[in-house]
Amino acid sequence: MQQDRGEMSMNGRICLITGATSGIGLVTARELAARGATVAMVGRNETKTRAAVEAIRQQTGNAEVDYLLADLSSQAAVRGVADAFQRRYGALHVLVNNAGAVFMRRQQTADGLEMTFALNHLAPFLLTNLLLDTLRANTPARVVTVGSVAHNGAHIPFDDLQQTKGRYSAFGVYGQTKLANIMFTYALSRRLEGSGVTANTLHPGFVGSNFARNNGPVMNVAMSLARSFAINVEKGAETSIYLASSPEVATVSGQYFYQCKPKRSSQASYDVAAQERLWQVSEQLTGLA
Ligand SMILES: NC(=O)c1ccc[n+]([C@@H]2O[C@H](COP(=O)([O-])OP(=O)(O)OC[C@H]3O[C@@H](n4cnc5c(N)ncnc54)[C@H](OP(=O)(O)O)[C@@H]3O)[C@@H](O)[C@H]2O)c1
Repeated sequence: MQQDRGEMSMNGRICLITGATSGIGLVTARELAARGATVAMVGRNETKTRAAVEAIRQQTGNAEVDYLLADLSSQAAVRGVADAFQRRYGALHVLVNNAGAVFMRRQQTADGLEMTFALNHLAPFLLTNLLLDTLRANTPARVVTVGSVAHNGAHIPFDDLQQTKGRYSAFGVYGQTKLANIMFTYALSRRLEGSGVTANTLHPGFVGSNFARNNGPVMNVAMSLARSFAINVEKGAETSIYLASSPEVATVSGQYFYQCKPKRSSQASYDVAAQERLWQVSEQLTGLA
């Protein structure tokens, strides 16, 4: 169980968590449920997601845990899950944008977009924007977006967001999308100033989850070896849980956290013009513009 970092009771708080079937998201969902929250877990595989819900209900004794299905690489599915969530719950207090992945080879989504950028950045961008009025209407509310230290050294490739030019670098692209998560959080926080909705991002640490295991047997072996250097998923979820629940950060917004403490992100992430350009292009690519 998570050590006590001043988490408040989450009774009466409605939380929506993406990527809640595995790793950091699964522990985050469980710990918020353990604190009494109503938890909506987003998964993409019905059997796996239902099993995760059942396990959390049993482990926590909280029956207010349920699921919604969406392959978040599809914008129609993101819109569908936002609609289904609003119809079922009506209110939202905590949105945890956690789902994310790395892809060793360039892939395209059903919308014809590069997969990493679509799943890791455009999906949380679209989901958050679709739920923003609901968050604003249910303050105090929080948006937590899981970034990564992998953003260091990255820049947003505005001239090639779809990665069609040159050699595809999986972890290079992944780092760009995690930079996008952080820049999105900073731009979102500006838009939410004074609203009672906070927006923060974080690096969870190097976590022994299922991360990168979607890339075949060689990558699986590599990840198994790397796992001995990783922290466990309980530890890896601590900062997400902290940002979602602790009174210590009730009014803190627009920050990047590591180990439950604010930390400076890369110089590039603070470029306001680039943040706004990313916001605009993301609006266009998601049909929000
Ligand atoms: N592990 C690390 O060291 C590390 C470090 C820094 C940041 N992060 C970030 O932490 C977050 C969580 O990763 P994790 O380490 O917990 O990895 P994980 O165990 O692989 O969990 C990823 C979650 O995202 C879901 N997901 C993946 N693709 C999806 C899609 N197309 N539609 C809907 N859901 C999808 C997965 O669903 P399934 O269960 O169906 O696969 C799973 O629930 C990610 O944003 C990652 O970038 C991880």
